[in-house]
Amino acid sequence: MSQNNIRTVLEGNPVVPVVKIQSLDEVVPLVTALQENNINCIEITLRTDCAIDALKLAKECSNDSFSVGVGTVVNTKQLAQVIEADVDFIVLPGLNDELVDALKDVSIPFLPGVVTPSEMMQCLSLGWDTLKFFPANIAGGLSALKTYSQVFSQIKFCPTGGISKGNYPEYLALDNVISVGGSWIQKDLNL
Ligand code: 3PG
Repeated sequence: MSQNNIRTVLEGNPVVPVVKIQSLDEVVPLVTALQENNINCIEITLRTDCAIDALKLAKECSNDSFSVGVGTVVNTKQLAQVIEADVDFIVLPGLNDELVDALKDVSIPFLPGVVTPSEMMQCLSLGWDTLKFFPANIAGGLSALKTYSQVFSQIKFCPTGGISKGNYPEYLALDNVISVGGSWIQKDLNL
């Protein structure tokens, strides 16, 4: 089993912009604006046809301290594609048996999505203690995270889904929240 260093990636990136790239023309202005605003990572979701090319372009046009991640990885075919694209981190909204098996050998940092205690326990049994809590707003938000901090004190979460400019500081203030993710950042930059 390889080491998953996602906690190190997120420690330096408390806010993770989750973006959907419709056209490659969007990539350079977006990455430039993020860097200018001292946001040094991006999660490009695999929800558009140009997402893989967008990832490669984001890596080319960003500086060395900028982390280019990929989100919405839902099957092993996509996992192989993004490993090939040499991304800096991988985000999965959830897990299935096939992905769990494949991830055991992945050396790129990855963030698996969970909602339930059983899913958290499965991840802990694999040594994965830094997890995406998704969809955070539907799965209980701040109060669920406070409860999980009592039960699973070793887990650090990156909540996403319904996080906003208004509520993200409250999430980051929780001891068991390492970072937050969301689409509001891209909208906020007017890009
Ligand atoms: C997602 O994967 O869509 C993210 O969780 C972003 O959700 P948001 O649009 O509610 O920020």
